[in-house]
Amino acid sequence: MPIQADLRQVIYALSDALDLVGVDDIAHGKRVGVMAAECAKAMNWSQDEVLFIFDLGILHDIGVSSTAAHHHLTHQFEWTGSPAYTRFGHDLLKDFCPLARMALPILYHHTRWDVMVREGVSPQVAIPANLILLMDRVDALMAQHYTSGKILQQRDSTRHEITIRKGSYFSPRLVDAFLQISAHESFWLRMEPRALAGYMNDMAALGTPYAATPAELQQLAEIFARIVDAKSPFTFTHSRGVAQVAARLGQLLGLAPEQCEKLQIAGLLHDLGKLRVPDEILDKPAGLDQNERLLMNAHSFETKQILRNIDGFEDIQLWAGSHHEEPGGLGYPDGIDAAQLPIEARILRVADIFQAMVQDRPYRQGLSLEAAGLFMHELQKSGRIDAAVGQALQAHLPELLAAARLEDSATAEAA
Ligand SMILES: [Fe+2]
Ligand SMILES: [Fe+2]
Ligand SMILES: [Fe+2]
Repeated sequence: MPIQADLRQVIYALSDALDLVGVDDIAHGKRVGVMAAECAKAMNWSQDEVLFIFDLGILHDIGVSSTAAHHHLTHQFEWTGSPAYTRFGHDLLKDFCPLARMALPILYHHTRWDVMVREGVSPQVAIPANLILLMDRVDALMAQHYTSGKILQQRDSTRHEITIRKGSYFSPRLVDAFLQISAHESFWLRMEPRALAGYMNDMAALGTPYAATPAELQQLAEIFARIVDAKSPFTFTHSRGVAQVAARLGQLLGLAPEQCEKLQIAGLLHDLGKLRVPDEILDKPAGLDQNERLLMNAHSFETKQILRNIDGFEDIQLWAGSHHEEPGGLGYPDGIDAAQLPIEARILRVADIFQAMVQDRPYRQGLSLEAAGLFMHELQKSGRIDAAVGQALQAHLPELLAAARLEDSATAEAA
């Protein structure tokens, strides 16, 4: 059966991945979404507009996968590095029909109100963009106080910081709505983790269900693969290469077309959990120390956590979350062995290792065909990868090398 899922549910689940970039503060996008939706309600926006601004809030940092950039953005009131990230976010969404309307507000969500007025940015873009900026800056001012239990003590100084920027950074009308709604305790107490979770559930139940087509799911997974891959120059086409190799291996091993389609999505999303790994660990050219290794190894578990909330993605979450499990049971995070590992998870493991070996990195070239073949053969001999999958790989090495490097399809020129 072709893959089926509700697009909003997929988007809400994947927004969890974006929030992981905050490393130990993993709710920035959600808080911005909730605050923006509350302001929109205070201005009597329609339910559709409230839902739109909420979704824009949870996705507004879609261009940010670097933990360092996230830190700048959430700790400095104005950061000169922000245009590269708003541009990337815009570019990711502009051609994806269901979310294309968000592209321009994302592009402008770090532009001051007076500048947008001067440049003649249309109100349909400027108002949502500025509401996100306003909530984003409120969250930056509050970020350090959420865990101290002193949110309410902090609200007056935050309201003051916003008020003095009325008409310059922020639209006067939006500031008025914010001051009105934020006079109430509930506005702030909603930012506590348990209240946030409840709000997310309420919003998820509000919208009209939207059955995504397989092509839309594929496109959305592709967008998130680009976010993960953009995190490090070491991995700039990794997820997309893994997806291609895995889908092709699936075909070679006789899997049904629908399974190969799901395998492709699992490949695109398998390293989502890496969004939580600090840049300096991911970018380290040499071996990791023990603590760094522990942080790194949590990523496949995180991937599973993100994907488990999507009805219809049961297989995908299992395969993607198991790409570091080994046939002998010595992998992670569950240490399950070959007997419990579906063939698709074993395929994904082979595709993952193979792509990483043949990808060029800033400090070294990818392995040659012969060297990669030999390396994979050694892994197979020692029982660390599945034998049948390993044999299929060896029998089609040149073709799979091209797939891993995105050299064999239309995606190559986009790389
Ligand atoms: Fe933000
Ligand atoms: Fe991984
Ligand atoms: Fe990977």
